Amino acid sequence: MAMIHVANLVKTFTVNQRGGGLRALFAPRRRTVTAVKDISFALQEGEMVGYLGPNGAGKSTTIKMLTGLLVPSSGEVLVDGMIPWKNRIRYVQKIGVVFGQRSSLWWDLPVMDSFDLLQAMYSIPRERYQRNLKMFREILELDDFLQLPVRSISLGQRMRAELCAALLHEPQLLFLDEPTIGLDVVAKERIRTFIRYVHEERHATIVLTTHDLTDIERLCERVMILDHGKILYDGALKQLLERFEGQRRLVVTLADPLAAPRLPGLSEPRREGAQVFYSFDPKTHSAAQILAMLNEEQTILDVEVRRAGLEDTIRRIYEQQLLFPVDDRTGKAN
Ligand SMILES: Nc1ncnc2c1ncn2[C@@H]1O[C@H](COP(=O)(O)OP(=O)(O)OP(=O)(O)O)[C@@H](O)[C@H]1O
Ligand SMILES: [Mg+2]
Repeated sequence: MAMIHVANLVKTFTVNQRGGGLRALFAPRRRTVTAVKDISFALQEGEMVGYLGPNGAGKSTTIKMLTGLLVPSSGEVLVDGMIPWKNRIRYVQKIGVVFGQRSSLWWDLPVMDSFDLLQAMYSIPRERYQRNLKMFREILELDDFLQLPVRSISLGQRMRAELCAALLHEPQLLFLDEPTIGLDVVAKERIRTFIRYVHEERHATIVLTTHDLTDIERLCERVMILDHGKILYDGALKQLLERFEGQRRLVVTLADPLAAPRLPGLSEPRREGAQVFYSFDPKTHSAAQILAMLNEEQTILDVEVRRAGLEDTIRRIYEQQLLFPVDDRTGKAN
């Protein structure tokens, strides 16, 4: 039996439509938003998966259902044999949760007091609590700000404290929703080292959502890519990269700052500031050929050819809604 088993999971929200004048006051128009549409996957004990997707894809909604904060509209979730939104008291003992976008610590209390409160709430045996706290203080370098109120510490310090708080009770499952959001490069690296430690030394099962693809490259062998509530890819990161290996990008700056002409045989270009990006496969196109086509209609000021990395690959999947077949038996893309 998998550690996390998700089948045909759906979550819809009903939201009030804005506008509509006075009439809307008496008969408010309602609209349903399907945040998660029929997703299924399995995660084995000790596995770590990167959960990726653009803003609004449904990542946090999934994590909230997995952690029992939201009840699904339909579908199944079993985590270590338990239904997350039932048996709450027993379930929260098993899991650690960090939501990077909001704090689970007490804002006005010193960091250390939050930890003490958590010890009481989770009834963590004194000896275990002190052993864990000692270790996390060292690895996460918490000592400089342990006595400061949470509201006065920096974002990077707070995230380290959040991770410590989520792990004091030694959960075997960890749900991390954007744990590196807004952090500088050094702070991100420290968080990654810690996540790797928890995964490798404690064999925790981890679901990690992030917009930082370096997090994924450093930490995850398996990724799931979500968009519009559907899983577009579930499989090995290596396989995903291999699939697009050899893809190139031509980056041009055109004299006309608003032009981004579509070229025959190529996908829609993307504009970012003054630059226009064309993705191409060197087996079917050459950079020179593309430049010649462009040159007929535009004045080109600057040119660069790049190899496609993970970021390009992911963007292509989002843009083209590329769906990879998922093998039912393994839950992995083939
Ligand atoms: N409580 C709610 N009520 C109504 N709609 C909601 C609610 N929570 C989420 N949604 C909607 O569900 C969709 C998915 O939201 P979700 O927060 O899961 O996305 P996400 O993938 O975590 O995005 P981000 O990368 O921005 O954090 C969005 O369209 C969002 O507006
Ligand atoms: Mg989110």
